[in-house]
Amino acid sequence: MNTELLTGTRAARKRLDLTRPVDAGEIRACLDIAVHAPSGSNRQPWRFVVVRDTELKARIGEYYRKGFAANLSGRTPRPDQLADLSSGQYLADHLAEVPALIVVCSLGRVPEQASALRLASFYGSIYPMVWNLQLALRARGLGSTLTTAHLAYEREVAELLGIPFDEVTQVAMLPVAHLRPGAEGPVRRTPAAELTGWDGWELPSGEENRPQ
Ligand SMILES: Cc1cc2nc3c(=O)[nH]c(=O)nc-3n(C[C@H](O)[C@H](O)[C@H](O)COP(=O)(O)O)c2cc1C
Repeated sequence: MNTELLTGTRAARKRLDLTRPVDAGEIRACLDIAVHAPSGSNRQPWRFVVVRDTELKARIGEYYRKGFAANLSGRTPRPDQLADLSSGQYLADHLAEVPALIVVCSLGRVPEQASALRLASFYGSIYPMVWNLQLALRARGLGSTLTTAHLAYEREVAELLGIPFDEVTQVAMLPVAHLRPGAEGPVRRTPAAELTGWDGWELPSGEENRPQ
C-alpha cells in the first residue's frame, strides 16, 4: 500500500500550476474513484459541480475572497499559522485562475440545530469521499485544497451555478490544478501516540508507559 500518498498529501495552493489546463477525463476518473467512499446507510449523498468557465470562476473567486477575509478578521494568528495564511491569501487572490473548481454538494439541507449524531451522519457521509477525491487527484499529480471559505456566500454561489439551495448543501470546494515541480514543506502533524488514550481518556505519560 502506498502510505506516502496518505502521509504526504498536503493542501496545495502556491504549488498549483495556473497555466496548465486539467483534462476533464482526469477529473472524471478521480470522481469515479472518490465515490467509492463510505456514507451512512450507503446513501451516497454527493453531487458535484465542476466549474471551468472563466466568468463563473471569477464570480466565485469574489465570494471566496470575501469569505476568506471575514474568516481572518479579528483573529490573531499563531506564528506557526503565518505560512498557511500567506498561501491561503495567495489562493484567495488567484482562485479564478485555477483551471477547475469542484464544488462538492450533499443532497438535503444540513439540519439546523441538529444533534451531534445527525451532524456526524450528515458531514461524515461526505467528507470521507472528499479526502478520497484529494488522494485520487494527488495520485495523478494533481493538487487540491479542501476549502470552505465560499460557504459564507453559499446561497449566492448556488444561484450562480443553478444549485437548488433548499434541497442541497454545499460542503466544500476543491480548486484543482497540476502540481508544479518543486519541494514541498513537511506535513506538520502531532504524532498519534501523543493523542491516544488506551482503555480510557488519560494519555500515557512517558515512553515507559507506552502500551505494547
Ligand atoms: C473543514 C476544512 C475547511 C478548510 N477550509 C479552507 C479554506 O477555506 N481555505 C483554505 O485555503 N484551506 C482550507 N482548509 C485547508 C486547511 O487549512 C489544511 O488542510 C490544513 O491547514 C493542513 O494543511 P497541510 O495539508 O498543508 O498540512 C480547510 C480544511 C478543512 C479540513
